[in-house]
Amino acid sequence: MNTTNYKNKQEILHVTTEYIRKTFQADSSGHDWWHIYRVVQLAKAIQKREGGNLFIIHMAALLHDLDDHKFKTESDDSEATLTIQWLSQLNIDKNINDHIISIVKNVSFRGSSELNKIATLEGQIVQDADRLDAIGAIGIARAFAFGGYKGTSIYDPTEKPDRTGSYEKFKLHKSSSINHFYEKLLLLKDRMNTESGQQIAESRHAFMKMFLEHFYVEWDGNDLENT
Ligand code: ADP
Ligand code: NI
Repeated sequence: MNTTNYKNKQEILHVTTEYIRKTFQADSSGHDWWHIYRVVQLAKAIQKREGGNLFIIHMAALLHDLDDHKFKTESDDSEATLTIQWLSQLNIDKNINDHIISIVKNVSFRGSSELNKIATLEGQIVQDADRLDAIGAIGIARAFAFGGYKGTSIYDPTEKPDRTGSYEKFKLHKSSSINHFYEKLLLLKDRMNTESGQQIAESRHAFMKMFLEHFYVEWDGNDLENT
C-alpha cells in the first residue's frame, strides 16, 4: 500500500466516522453511535487475529446499520440506499465499494430459522462483531433498552418464546425482552463465523445464562432458598 493511498483511506474513514456519529447520535433503540463504536472496536480486534482487509472491515462496521431494516418500510428492505449514496462520493475502488455494500446488505439477523451465512472473511468478521454486541452484559442492557423503546414488557411468564420464527415473523414479533433471549440472543453463540468470535461469544453467553438464572430466582422471590 503506498502512502497516498493510505492517507486517502484514513481520510475516508475519518469522514465516514463523523457522518455516522452525527446520524446515530440521537437514537435510543439500541442503534446509537456507541453500538457502532463497539462493533468497530470488536471487528478490529477480531481482524487482528483472523486477518482480512482492515479498511473494508472498518468501513462496513461503520456503515452496517445505516440502512437497517427496522427503520424502513417493506419495499426498500433489502436495499442499501443510504450506504450506496454515501460511498458513491468517496472515490473508492469499485471492487472494494461493492464488497462493502454486499456486507452491509447481508449482516443483519433475520430470524432464528435463517442462517444468513456471509461469504467473505471481512463480512464474517463484521457479522460476528455485530452479533457479539447483542450478547453478554451489553446485549442484556440493549435488550431491555429496546423493549422500553418498543413499549414491551421486561418479562411475561404467560408468553412463550417463538423459536421457529421466520424473518417476517421475527420482524413483527413484539414479545418481552426475556423472550428475546430465547428467540435470538442465546442462539448467537453457535452462529459465530470465526474462531475468535466464537471465543468471545462463549464467555458472553455464559454471563447471559447466569443473568437468566438469577432473574427467575428473583422473579419468584426465591432468593432465600437459593443462598
Ligand atoms: P443489529 O441490527 O445491531 O444486529 P437489531 O437491530 O436486531 O440489532 O437490534 C438492536 C438491539 O435490540 C439488539 O441488541 C437486539 O438484541 C435488541 N432487540 C431487537 N429486537 C428485540 C426485541 N424484540 N426485544 C428485545 N430486544 C430486541
Ligand atoms: Ni448493528
